[in-house]
Amino acid sequence: MKMWTKSAIIGGFCLVLTGCRTATISPRTTTTVSDTAAVAAGHDLYQEVCAYCHGNNGQGGTRFGAPRLWGPNNAIISGAYNTLGPLTAYIKRAMPSQAVNGINPGGLTEVQSREVAQFILWKNHTLK
Ligand code: HEC
Repeated sequence: MKMWTKSAIIGGFCLVLTGCRTATISPRTTTTVSDTAAVAAGHDLYQEVCAYCHGNNGQGGTRFGAPRLWGPNNAIISGAYNTLGPLTAYIKRAMPSQAVNGINPGGLTEVQSREVAQFILWKNHTLK
């Protein structure tokens, strides 16, 4: 994907949902997400594979009792997966919990799992 396309995705996305803040995680999670390309890729993967259960806006509850992943009182911020390593590992091991759009549980690659994790952490610090 060309650079301008990624920028367009990030730009359009943050325009709609976050008001275009930078993709930086606060010290609270000990993780810095500065890779906007990874966040953009994670956004696309989220919509394709995760939104089915966790909702287009991470609100959760769309299917199978999937928890809220960002926004007020979400499962990530206070849970065991609020840093990049553990969140990536959890997604790789356990998500999607059932096959969605041809992706089986554990079917994302390590890199894809990390990209989605970066996207989720990014959302947690830009949408409050
Ligand atoms: C088929 C429905 C479904 C899909 C698709 C799905 N999830 Fe989930 N997810 C769940 C359910 C249900 C839980 C609760 C599981 C539990 O508590 O054991 C969950 C839990 C989680 C959690 C744990 C939150 C916490 O801190 O307790 C994370 C993180 C997560 N999902 C991320 C993802 C990501 C990222 C994707 C896409 C790659 C995804 N999920 C796709 C149903 C789904």
